Amino acid sequence: MRVPAKINLALRVGERREDGYHELSTVFQAVSLYDTVTACHAGEVSVTVVGEGAGQVPTGDANLAVRAARLLAARAGVRAGVRLRLDKAIPLAGGMAGGSADAAGALVACDTLWGTDLGRPELLALAAQLGSDVPFALHGGTALGTGRGVELTDVLARGRYHWVLALAGAGLSTAQVYSVYDQLGRPPAAAVEPVLAALRAGDPVALAAALVNDLQPAALRLRPELSRLLEAGLAAGALGAVVSGSGPTLAFLAAGTAAADQLAVDLAGLGLARAVRRADGPVGGARLVAAADA
Ligand code: C5P
Repeated sequence: MRVPAKINLALRVGERREDGYHELSTVFQAVSLYDTVTACHAGEVSVTVVGEGAGQVPTGDANLAVRAARLLAARAGVRAGVRLRLDKAIPLAGGMAGGSADAAGALVACDTLWGTDLGRPELLALAAQLGSDVPFALHGGTALGTGRGVELTDVLARGRYHWVLALAGAGLSTAQVYSVYDQLGRPPAAAVEPVLAALRAGDPVALAAALVNDLQPAALRLRPELSRLLEAGLAAGALGAVVSGSGPTLAFLAAGTAAADQLAVDLAGLGLARAVRRADGPVGGARLVAAADA
């Protein structure tokens, strides 16, 4: 399975609910930075992890892909095992839903491998039990997420958007960013409509001006050094920039492919980011790319 990372083009955070989650109104876009999830028949559920941040990913029951496999087995009533391999390219704890991508990939991979064939609505429901960003990793494209972030509606998005992603040194805990957000007091609610209008028009300049993330002040409070990187990217010619999700990855929107490639080179040269990646969006959600008989 190949599963994309996401950027939140708009992330408006509302009330904290009784279950501890916040009401969201968010516009997700899936971008061409992928984790690959491979699944093979086995007696037990196990996982190995290679690639970006592999040493820091848990391999026991705390692994979201392992939890996805166990949840699917329980729901479908099968006593099957699986050997999962995660080839990671999505930054760990970077606000780009890498763990969610792995969970989404594991769900679809096991559903295929085990022949449980649960169908899309059921897989989306299981995905929502695993995490707020997991349903979108299945869904892909550009979509509005409401409720906890798991109720998805496709939005009309014309054109292709060219991103430069600046990865920060260490990851941020999503729960911690939300907690700092609560402490800071709620900023004036940012509207998602300007983002939707820019997407309908296929206008990257308008989209750049409309990018908004209510969690950004909290992420910058936890990682003050990101402000310099943000300013450097804008000075280097990005149309706009936003913290991706709960951060600390920064997403810079460029005017076109060549501008994005140049911006990536310039940002990497500044040495302010741990790594710089190029990605385009929107792309499709979790997808089977190869299958073979064991
Ligand atoms: O759903 P997920 O496990 O990705 O969420 C991680 C943490 O982010 C939650 O425990 C919660 O603290 C916070 N969160 C939130 N409101 C949301 C989504 C996530 O407060 N809608």
